[in-house]
Amino acid sequence: MQILVVDVIHYTGINQFVLNIGVTKVNYCAAETRYENMTYRRCGRSGLKLPAITLGLWYNIGGIDSFENGRAMVRRAFDSGITHFDLANNYGPPPGSAEENFGRLLSQDLGPYRDELVISSKAGYLMWPGPYGEWGSRKYLVASLDQSLKRMGLEYVDIFYSHRPDPETPLEETMGALDFIVRSGRALYVGISSYNPEQTRQAATILKNLGTPCIIHQPRYNMFDRWIEDGLLDVLSAEGIGCIGFSPLCQGILTDKYLKGVPENSRAGKWKDQLTWGDTVSKERIAKVAKLNKLAEARGQSMAQMAIAWNLRHKEMTSALIGASQVSHIEDAVAALDNLDFSAEELKEIDSILE
Ligand SMILES: NC(=O)c1ccc[n+]([C@@H]2O[C@H](COP(=O)([O-])OP(=O)(O)OC[C@H]3O[C@@H](n4cnc5c(N)ncnc54)[C@H](OP(=O)(O)O)[C@@H]3O)[C@@H](O)[C@H]2O)c1
Repeated sequence: MQILVVDVIHYTGINQFVLNIGVTKVNYCAAETRYENMTYRRCGRSGLKLPAITLGLWYNIGGIDSFENGRAMVRRAFDSGITHFDLANNYGPPPGSAEENFGRLLSQDLGPYRDELVISSKAGYLMWPGPYGEWGSRKYLVASLDQSLKRMGLEYVDIFYSHRPDPETPLEETMGALDFIVRSGRALYVGISSYNPEQTRQAATILKNLGTPCIIHQPRYNMFDRWIEDGLLDVLSAEGIGCIGFSPLCQGILTDKYLKGVPENSRAGKWKDQLTWGDTVSKERIAKVAKLNKLAEARGQSMAQMAIAWNLRHKEMTSALIGASQVSHIEDAVAALDNLDFSAEELKEIDSILE
């Protein structure tokens, strides 16, 4: 697509300006059909709706990755109605590079669609040396978000998270920083990630009293990590907080990719099975995935699709926060929405396989 633009205005002397008018190539035009097949779910009791599938950019769009592959995935996602992109200060690698590359995509492709996007970022993990480069102080959170905004070329993010609870900083300070971040225009909404049920209840109360509600919690949730079923979902329901479960595929283990060994170009292959969050491609897990895969086939789904649908079965679950290394992963995830229903027998069978 080509459009006429006023490119640059040069000042050439007293009261003399030169307008450069030219034809510039606009890189990307979003699919007109992008809102036809996506489902949007209300995030807790807030006014914000999120797509049932969110694309996370923890990996695969960093400085070590192919920019064009990252671009193709982000375009495919937005063309499919995925309006929400999840980032954090430390995503890459190297840390910061995912936000830098996403910023490039905003300036080259997605910029005209800014008001159709929900962009999130977070701070909590180590980002720079010294006592102010991680955890939950006001000093760190505000400085980190300012850096994130600069990297992405944004004036504000839609959602900003405290990435993890800080055992040393008073919760009032961390939540006070989130409130300040909204009031200063740096973010529209705030959330928390990986806070346990009691911490969540306390954080929600503090934020409510400050007048900036906590609208979303981002916990890890998948068939191999079900901790949120033990109290957190009840707290979220009572407090009216939405839930966006990360790593629904357990970093790829809950797909068919490891059924016949560890492919070299997979996450486990690249990292020599040193996955974070204690995930391993163990024989026991793969034996379970093989059984789950049969059930998925009987449902007419891929293993990945069934794992995503299973995550979305809770009424509190606003969105499944997936990762992808190929465009086809995004297509697979979106197609999971065609069958989100589980019979009681299917759920029982899944529980017994996972036992
Ligand atoms: N709040 C937090 O503390 C926190 C922590 C971690 C992640 N997150 C967020 O959650 C997002 C998702 O995390 P995640 O990447 O672990 O999610 P995930 O969806 O569990 O795993 C994504 C990986 O699964 C594989 N995959 C995806 N679709 C597939 C398919 N259809 N068939 C075969 N393999 C498939 C790919 O692995 P290969 O690379 O092997 O192809 C992909 O990179 C992150 O980007 C981030 O936004 C948040």
